[in-house]
Amino acid sequence: MTDLTWSVAWEIELDDAAHAGIAALLGRAYAQPQRFTGGRSWAGARPEVRVVARDGATPVAHAGIVRRFLRTLPEGRDVLVGDVGLVAVDPAHHRRGLGTALMARVVDVLVDLDVPFGFLSCGPAVEPFYRAAGWTRLPGVRVHLVDTHHRARVDEDPAMVHAAGRPLSAWPATRVLARDGQLV
Ligand SMILES: CC(C)(COP(=O)(O)OP(=O)(O)OC[C@H]1O[C@@H](n2cnc3c(N)ncnc32)[C@H](O)[C@@H]1OP(=O)(O)O)[C@@H](O)C(=O)NCCC(=O)NCCS
Repeated sequence: MTDLTWSVAWEIELDDAAHAGIAALLGRAYAQPQRFTGGRSWAGARPEVRVVARDGATPVAHAGIVRRFLRTLPEGRDVLVGDVGLVAVDPAHHRRGLGTALMARVVDVLVDLDVPFGFLSCGPAVEPFYRAAGWTRLPGVRVHLVDTHHRARVDEDPAMVHAAGRPLSAWPATRVLARDGQLV
């Protein structure tokens, strides 16, 4: 892991070859190569910025971030977050701390972006990974979102936050969030 090189790249800085490498990693990590065909390195919303670790030229860890406002319901209070997704580590590198190192760099980027909080939703099975990386589950929170098939639905999966520019104590006490864009 010491030989890996890390980069933080804005979306417009990535060329076709970079997208192809990331798409291949996402296909391996999610075991869904058909979902990331044609150099398409995203599933729903395209990230604005990506954190990538490479072994030589090959991406082995990746996370995407897009800044957006969530809304609390029913109040309608806006909450600026760095919405994190497409978190993936090459299966050949699992359980060596690479995912944890990736999420530490994600938090660094969130702080650099000057967003108050990081936000993500995840399957229940990987909640322990995010907890171990310092993320906090929002208990009992439902998220109204637009899924990768462009359908609005209510998501009961774990919603996780991380402090960036503001302490977690500043997170609004709400049980329902609206994310009026596709998940990353
Ligand atoms: C989830 C993922 C990014 C973890 O990467 P990783 O490099 O293996 O993670 P780490 O080695 O840093 O794990 C740190 C700790 O997180 C927990 N953890 C790691 N992977 C986990 C998993 N799949 N499920 C539950 N807990 C997990 C463990 O407590 C682990 O510590 P341990 O190995 O000492 O038990 C990787 O398994 C992956 O890419 N999975 C497929 C894609 C995916 O599910 N992404 C998340 C979408 S929301």
